[in-house]
Amino acid sequence: MTIPLIGASKAILKIAELINNVADTCLDVLITGETGVGKDVVAQNLYAASARAKKKFVKINCAALPETLLESELFGYEKGAFTGAEKKRPGKFKTANHGVLFLDEIGDMPMALQSKMLHVLQSGEFSPLGANKEFKTDVWVIAATNQNLEENIAKKTFREDLFYRLNIINIKIPPLRDRKEDVPFFFQYYCERYNSEYPQCRVDMPDSEMLAKFSNYPWPGNVRQLQNCIKKQLISNSWNKVFEDLPLEHLEIPRATREDRGLNGAPLFAGHESAKNRTRIISQFIDISTSSDKLFEDISLKKIKKLASDRVEKEVITFVLEKVGWNKSQAAKILKVSYKTLLYKMIEFEVQPFMK
Ligand SMILES: Nc1ncnc2c1ncn2[C@@H]1O[C@H](COP(=O)(O)OP(=O)(O)O)[C@@H](O)[C@H]1O
Ligand SMILES: [Mg+2]
Repeated sequence: MTIPLIGASKAILKIAELINNVADTCLDVLITGETGVGKDVVAQNLYAASARAKKKFVKINCAALPETLLESELFGYEKGAFTGAEKKRPGKFKTANHGVLFLDEIGDMPMALQSKMLHVLQSGEFSPLGANKEFKTDVWVIAATNQNLEENIAKKTFREDLFYRLNIINIKIPPLRDRKEDVPFFFQYYCERYNSEYPQCRVDMPDSEMLAKFSNYPWPGNVRQLQNCIKKQLISNSWNKVFEDLPLEHLEIPRATREDRGLNGAPLFAGHESAKNRTRIISQFIDISTSSDKLFEDISLKKIKKLASDRVEKEVITFVLEKVGWNKSQAAKILKVSYKTLLYKMIEFEVQPFMK
């Protein structure tokens, strides 16, 4: 059964539209996104929307198998092709003929196999291990990865030509934290689903306040983490408790994507790496190591704004005073405040020249 594509964010609606448009063409597709964002779901929806839906959907995880096994799984082998090959075995390219071959975790495919893969994609022919001829195959290749293949190309672990071949259509699924508006839809869907799957337990939708908290949570494990969180509620029966148990700090922060970076390549304050920065900045003004309840009680935008602006003011005043050799009237002029104001601020912020 194909899982419906849940969500109403711009990103999800665009993906749904793309699925419908691409499904008819069967152009090779590369699905990218962090773990748990729904790459498998998108691949299955592509298949279900296509004319190949009556044929097979064959999935292979390129990260799960060692190179030689992956090769024989993909291309199959003839009897006697290697020690232990007692009879011939068809590979996924044969099994998936006229259907879909879903290459999951393509970023982990070894280089030697990438060359073979490129050959099949370009010629539509493959050769099982030990065979001395090529066979035709007609598969729709859908690949997925959570890796940045362009970075892998630079590191020489992924073939550039294969990347361009696979990347004819790129479906990029943003992490859940960048499409917060989808969170309530997931809660609705999974609460209903688990209520019917586990009739002995009951899970009610969180109230709107709680739902807002969940929507603002960064979900490092994306939809998969959200599902597990709802399953926990089946047992704990307290959304508050479930929310508190979500890891708030020391999140495993993946690399920033290219889009998280500005033109000069420096990370901006958005996305993953920036979440780390954010935590670092906030923790200068507030103790974030406390429980979420205590933290939310302590956090006040007004208070933090005052602390942050005092801190910056102090640094700017010290910076200017140092530049002008601690000449206060000159510093006041540069800072565009009165001499008296500068004196008050120096006392308030305890700004003093360093003793040499
Ligand atoms: N848009 C979506 N609609 C419905 N279910 C989703 C969606 N995105 C993710 N899921 C669910 O979240 C879980 C993780 O999704 P999956 O496709 O396996 O992620 P990925 O392959 O990116 O790691 C699955 O159980 C899947 O059913
Ligand atoms: Mg997957």
